[in-house]
Amino acid sequence: MEFFVTHQAADHYSGDCSVAFVYKDTTNENRILQGLLELHRFEASLGETLMLGKVEGYKSKRVLAIGLGESPLTQKNYVKVLKSLSSAMVDTKVKNVVIPSLEVEGYDDSWLQMTTARVLKNESYQIKKVGLEVEKKAIVLEAVNLHSENNGVTEISKGVAIANGMALARELGDLPPNICTPTYIAERAQLLASTYKLKCEVLEESDMEALGMNSLLSVSLGSSQPAKLISLSYSNGGKEDPIVLVGKGVTFDSGGISLKPGSGMDEMKYDMCGAASVLGTMSAVAEMGLKVNLTVVVPTVENMPAHNASRPGDVVKSMSGQTIEILNTDAEGRLILCDALTYCEKFNPKVVIDIATLTGAVIVALGKHHSGVMSNDQNLADSLKNSGVSSMDTVWQLPLDDEYDELLKSNFADMANIGGREAGTVTAACFLARYTKNYSWAHIDIAGTAWLGGSKKGATGRPVPLLTQYVMDQV
Ligand code: BES
Ligand code: MN
Ligand code: ZN
Repeated sequence: MEFFVTHQAADHYSGDCSVAFVYKDTTNENRILQGLLELHRFEASLGETLMLGKVEGYKSKRVLAIGLGESPLTQKNYVKVLKSLSSAMVDTKVKNVVIPSLEVEGYDDSWLQMTTARVLKNESYQIKKVGLEVEKKAIVLEAVNLHSENNGVTEISKGVAIANGMALARELGDLPPNICTPTYIAERAQLLASTYKLKCEVLEESDMEALGMNSLLSVSLGSSQPAKLISLSYSNGGKEDPIVLVGKGVTFDSGGISLKPGSGMDEMKYDMCGAASVLGTMSAVAEMGLKVNLTVVVPTVENMPAHNASRPGDVVKSMSGQTIEILNTDAEGRLILCDALTYCEKFNPKVVIDIATLTGAVIVALGKHHSGVMSNDQNLADSLKNSGVSSMDTVWQLPLDDEYDELLKSNFADMANIGGREAGTVTAACFLARYTKNYSWAHIDIAGTAWLGGSKKGATGRPVPLLTQYVMDQV
């Protein structure tokens, strides 16, 4: 699927299909089109579609009418329109199309072009089934022409770069856990590094031992897959300190000795979606060639029960020197993140943002709509909220008061790795906050937003749009 900008109005396009956007209760200037819409009882409700053949006044072979509902068109409704446009084109095997530009309330033409390209490209993502060729489903759409008075080539390429980053994140998330191991993630990171000439470093378990990362290493004791700590650096921002993104990469979370219940356990292959999202963001930023310095850090392990796995009651000493009583081996994300967060200090970060499928509790609190954000720097939290709104990949802030931190008290170590039943998302963040005192930091809990379950089971590619937008907003 390729995108182009055209200055030609949609009715002058002589290709396969022209899109006609129709607001409810308005009359189309083209009376033939208006007559056909009435004949087919087209109501122009939001996302309604009607494929017509040749329409007088249009040069294209077909006209696809799409309802916009009531005016003005909001940002969220525009995305609904794009999704139904996308499925209508698949259903009717459109090869090339022209899409008129329109007004989206509160957003300009650049946003429109970037978002249109991103959403349509992301909608065309197809899950790769292991060992099978990608089904050449009905996606035959080759060329999408966006009508605009302006030159939108760079905006479109940004949208495509984000969709490509999302596709990488989705692919890694969807891969089965026997294939997507820590070693595999390290290989994919190295591939990304060679594509975009990034600096790549992969620490092995022996390297991590030398650095004192006993907390991280404790999680993979029960697994035959060796842990890795990956870092990738993109330097195109001169002497600026880098933005550092850290992604939780648990390639399968069985819970360890604190074993999870069986039902739905397969979904714990998605416990590396934080890692996938930071790699996807790196891909998007590098593809765009943004003038920034960006480093991504991925601690990646498999959490398994075995005779040599860590036990509830074990005490480990983290790289920071703080000791941790492991009361639940299923609270493993924070155990790998704390050492990765200490490791980040060596990059002199401008800010550090960690992204993790950290708690089931965030799904209870926020569902699958917003990711949870917690921060020791209100300006950073506000920036993330704003980037989330414009990229339609939103976050909702939760508190980080000292009262919650007290729940981590242990009689046998500096802290326990769990805080009890209440406010599980916040106590997890309080744990991480003890390792991020030396820099501006935010934590994004994506357990509710990184993948969908049920019949729509699959990774979403979130929060690649949010993170990429955040980086773009810093340029
Ligand atoms: N990866 C899970 C969090 C998770 C659970 C994500 C369900 C998506 C769906 C994490 O490692 C975990 O197991 N967290 C525990 C923490 C608890 C033991 C304090 C949880 O949320 O139950
Ligand atoms: Mn767990
Ligand atoms: Zn986990």
